[in-house]
Amino acid sequence: MVLRYVTPTTTRWNARTYDSSFGYVSALGAPLVDLLDPQPGERILDLGCGTGVLTAEIHSRGAEVLGIDGSAMMIEKALAHYPGLDFIVGDGHDFSVAQQYDAVFSNAALHWMSRDPDMVIANVREALRPGGRFIAEMGGAGNCAELRAALATAWREHGLGEPEFPWYFPTPAEYSLRLEKEGFVVRLLEHFERPTPLNECPGGAADWVRMFAAEQLTKAPADQVEPLLRRVNELAAPALRTENGWMADYVRLRFAAVRR
Ligand SMILES: C[S@@+](CC[C@H](N)C(=O)[O-])C[C@H]1O[C@@H](n2cnc3c(N)ncnc32)[C@H](O)[C@@H]1O
Repeated sequence: MVLRYVTPTTTRWNARTYDSSFGYVSALGAPLVDLLDPQPGERILDLGCGTGVLTAEIHSRGAEVLGIDGSAMMIEKALAHYPGLDFIVGDGHDFSVAQQYDAVFSNAALHWMSRDPDMVIANVREALRPGGRFIAEMGGAGNCAELRAALATAWREHGLGEPEFPWYFPTPAEYSLRLEKEGFVVRLLEHFERPTPLNECPGGAADWVRMFAAEQLTKAPADQVEPLLRRVNELAAPALRTENGWMADYVRLRFAAVRR
């Protein structure tokens, strides 16, 4: 169990919309669970577990699980959906565990833990037994570049300056160096484009911004939010609106590393 209570992150998450419109995040995490290959009886920690969909999938394969997430709203929803599982509010920058785990798993969450990536990796190392594995997928260099460019341009055009993005999208070289420096052996590291249909987002790129750049939107004057979002759609459409609908230009970094 977790020893220290940890400070929740300030990121605002709408856990309801997350599952209904952005369920693809956990659905597309299924291959990562295969890479984790959880074994019956293993102790596995899911860092940045969100609403717990993948935590539950790992548990269904016989492992003992603990989900940690910085958002109280996400954890509330995870506990409501999976009352038999352990979830706790916690920050990847500041957690420790009493008993070491066989694996730490993380899907689509590490790029949000951008304040100090080394500290996050060090906490993961301490949570693992020697030989324990760290299996994760996160946004990699170039992730959502078109979406970010559209948002930044719309932001500037509305006289709001440069938006401050909360994410950390490292190159493979950069992240593998960090892992090695913090005591991991990198067994696998992939950096790949994963264009992702926004099937459940009728508002297109604007819906993506509402979900993932919610914090930035709170900094815009209320009467500018809708015009800003309309402009984001106009700017992003040439690159991201296809005849089959909107696509998000995701780029992922997926890795398997082992604690020395
Ligand atoms: C895109 S969601 C992914 C959730 C889940 N892993 C999935 O596959 O659906 C990113 C999650 O990271 C969490 N998160 C962001 N910053 C965090 C931090 N510093 N510590 C712990 N969790 C954090 C968010 O609250 C959110 O639930």
